[in-house]
Amino acid sequence: MKVVAFNGSARKNGNTAMLVGYVFEELEKEGIETELIQLAGEHPHGCIACYQCFKKKNKQCIVDLDCINACIEKMDAADGILLASPTYFADISTEMKALIDRTGMTARANGDLFQRKVGAAIVARRRGGAIHAFDTMNHFFTIGQMITVGSSYWNIGDGREKGEVADDREGITTMRDLGRNMAWLLKKIKG
Ligand SMILES: Cc1cc2nc3c(=O)[nH]c(=O)nc-3n(C[C@H](O)[C@H](O)[C@H](O)COP(=O)(O)O)c2cc1C
Repeated sequence: MKVVAFNGSARKNGNTAMLVGYVFEELEKEGIETELIQLAGEHPHGCIACYQCFKKKNKQCIVDLDCINACIEKMDAADGILLASPTYFADISTEMKALIDRTGMTARANGDLFQRKVGAAIVARRRGGAIHAFDTMNHFFTIGQMITVGSSYWNIGDGREKGEVADDREGITTMRDLGRNMAWLLKKIKG
């Protein structure tokens, strides 16, 4: 079994990546393979609304200039998907929005490609707007016939400078509980 995570932060290996890391530790303890894909520096383009994905139905986005088609393949091959973003102006990053719009539309054009995969959203924030970002990412799972996993709090970690989430004990507990719940669910439905 495999879980793939996408870090939408504009900076690599920051708080968002660290939050994913705590979830991964719990998944790996249960023997589940993990992979982190960081969108920083990849400059994924937004959806161009051409609807070619509905005409071609080949599980690919026609805008084949960036990492998005590789991301679709990673999602398609995984049993679980984590979408992780920092909070930017009370919502997700531009990179995460491009990922959601293009992978999500391609999935819809191909008969809900990711249906019944297990998904969860993760958010890093300095102070406010994280719930909005969390909700934005959850729309990807719930329209795609995916199964979302909860935790002991909403999946949010606090920090501004790189590494500061390591001081957010409740955030770390939330991530570890999320990882354990995701592993439990994956084993129930895939085992
Ligand atoms: C453009 C920009 C907008 C931001 N807007 C918010 C915000 O609305 N609310 C908030 O709590 N933090 C905001 N932040 C802070 C980041 O969410 C926070 O530093 C986060 O930990 C960054 O995660 P990273 O280390 O993975 O990049 C913003 C940061 C940037 C660069």
